[in-house]
Amino acid sequence: MALLDAAPWAAPLRGHATQPARKGAKTLAHVWLYLVVVLVLSACGGGPTQPPAAPREVVQRGARLYAANCQSCHGDAVGGTVQDYPPVHNAKGHTWHHADCVLVQLTLDGMPPSPDVPPDAPRMQAFRDTLTADDVTAILAYIKTWWTDKQRVYQADVTRQGC
Ligand code: HEC
Repeated sequence: MALLDAAPWAAPLRGHATQPARKGAKTLAHVWLYLVVVLVLSACGGGPTQPPAAPREVVQRGARLYAANCQSCHGDAVGGTVQDYPPVHNAKGHTWHHADCVLVQLTLDGMPPSPDVPPDAPRMQAFRDTLTADDVTAILAYIKTWWTDKQRVYQADVTRQGC
């Protein structure tokens, strides 16, 4: 037994006597490793980050285009509810649930009339003949300035996954 206790090569044979101590050391190492990983991730900004804001000229161009083509139906920066028809594009609406490419395509191609809407209600027409995809992207950049930080982060994520 004394021989086994002393000899390093016999460690596996000594069995239980040394197990708890070694297990403890391993657990401590895991805790440290975990802490280091958490620290590194938080230093790199592991949380949600704001998408970069569009250049000011683009937002201004979008504002002009919006006022001329969309505002009469879709309202402006504030007011309205999610139930409004036509829908509002501001933070009260649901536009921020959709990815950029979906919003651009909807605007260029319009939307088929939904059956539950009265025939004389305003319709979302196709803007392909009046606006380019670049124009609609500028309009979206303007609309995005109305959303909350959380809505912008959410919508950027939907865009990354859906476009
Ligand atoms: C004549 C009124 C009218 C005009 C002008 C108009 N829209 Fe719409 N739009 C609608 C209606 C009505 C709907 C809802 C269609 C439905 O749900 O069936 C809609 C829906 C939408 C939607 C999908 C719903 C949402 O909020 O995500 C988008 C995006 C949209 N419009 C963008 C635009 C943009 C951009 C412009 C200007 C270039 C514009 N619309 C101009 C009436 C209009």
